[in-house]
Amino acid sequence: MQFPEGFLWGVATSAYQIEGAWAEDGRTPSIWDTFSHTPGRTKNGATGDVACDHYHRWRDDVALMAELGIQAYRFSVSWPRILPEGRGKVNQKGLDFYSRLVDALLEAGIIPFVTLYHWELPQVLQDAGGWPERDTAAAFAELADVTSRALGDRVTHWITHNEPWCTSLLSHQVGVHAPGWRDWHAALRAAHTVLWSHGLAVAHIRANAPDAEVGIAINFEPATPASPSPEDYHAARLWDGYYFRWFVNALYGRRYPADMVHYYTQQGYLPHGLDFVQTGDMETIAAPLDFFGVNYYTRHIAQAGESLDAHRSVPNPGAEYTAMGWEVHPDSFYRLLNRLYFEYGMGKIYITENGCSYLDFPHDQKRIEYLRGHLTAVYRAIQNGVPIAGYLQWSFMDNYEWAEGYTQRFGIVYVDYETQQRLPKDSAFWYRDVIKSGKLNSNFLKKDAD
Ligand code: FCB
Repeated sequence: MQFPEGFLWGVATSAYQIEGAWAEDGRTPSIWDTFSHTPGRTKNGATGDVACDHYHRWRDDVALMAELGIQAYRFSVSWPRILPEGRGKVNQKGLDFYSRLVDALLEAGIIPFVTLYHWELPQVLQDAGGWPERDTAAAFAELADVTSRALGDRVTHWITHNEPWCTSLLSHQVGVHAPGWRDWHAALRAAHTVLWSHGLAVAHIRANAPDAEVGIAINFEPATPASPSPEDYHAARLWDGYYFRWFVNALYGRRYPADMVHYYTQQGYLPHGLDFVQTGDMETIAAPLDFFGVNYYTRHIAQAGESLDAHRSVPNPGAEYTAMGWEVHPDSFYRLLNRLYFEYGMGKIYITENGCSYLDFPHDQKRIEYLRGHLTAVYRAIQNGVPIAGYLQWSFMDNYEWAEGYTQRFGIVYVDYETQQRLPKDSAFWYRDVIKSGKLNSNFLKKDAD
């Protein structure tokens, strides 16, 4: 399988997961510092205080990327490094760190993709109400303005938000990510503020970096019914509305899906309907984008419960599962990519995250098979006409996996956290060879299409 000329091959990380240096050079705590320092919230009480110490080792990390032939690097900026009070006063030291990183990447011939929000809300803004409050969107617009002013002369690819479903529902309704709430109404208000803030940010980036490409990274866990029963079909449809359509429909000018507004109202999750949606919000949210970012890891097998809280993904006996307990299912990725293009008409898609956690080192054959399977899905979608312009593997190196702490390893590069040594796994060399040739040997099996 020969990938198209110009297809971009890269890797991705995020600030809190790799930087460490949590209290250095003027950075103030984010909600993840608070959360990870709260007993019982993360595995083994792990924090990102040190993580991969990338804040001090970034030069070596960029050099290693260059050695591996990486063409694009997606990273995020830490909001409280740049705006320690959440808004207002700019911390030049914070901006300088990212500015130097961008220069080093460009010098190495690596295209930077900058994510503005990968979950590091400054704690001061959380104290003022956090994402359920509209003011937080105005503060985010400031971050977008300040950052794109400083880096917009060099950064050509911008991502406003990483995974709004996680920022809103996973963090405010499921409660396993910071700030750890379990409140449906707050979660749905948060989802709206996040989406609205995305639209506000797009305008700032366009003003400060007129030639840059701007997009957003949305995560997907496509649903399939556990059985042919009407109840399980309904469960799959609900999951789709909750996870996929609530976000994608709003971003593509279709507003919030009526069936979900009805469902949430019935459940009492929207006690006053969509009263938090103000005139013009939906137009702002649907600002035209240059690309759409897709994060995909696994699918969801939907079984009916009494409400969305009680729904579960049932296991698929005999299937391959990663160390995260996520089913390996490349065909769902293939179908998702087709759906996005044929139903929503995205003009350009980047895969902004895809990868897997396995603990094997240095011979991580299972990771190679995962990547090969998912890249085959990308290739097949491209053959259908889906305009996929690049693939950013998650992740460049093992890192702090949020509530899972350091128990998961997503990297193609191994990190020894005792010594901070970086050691490329087999998959890193395999990926280097794929990049060099732009070619992949298929491992697509008919059984993957079940
Ligand atoms: C995604 C996150 C990323 C990483 C991967 C495994 O949801 O965006 O930071 O944790 O999952």
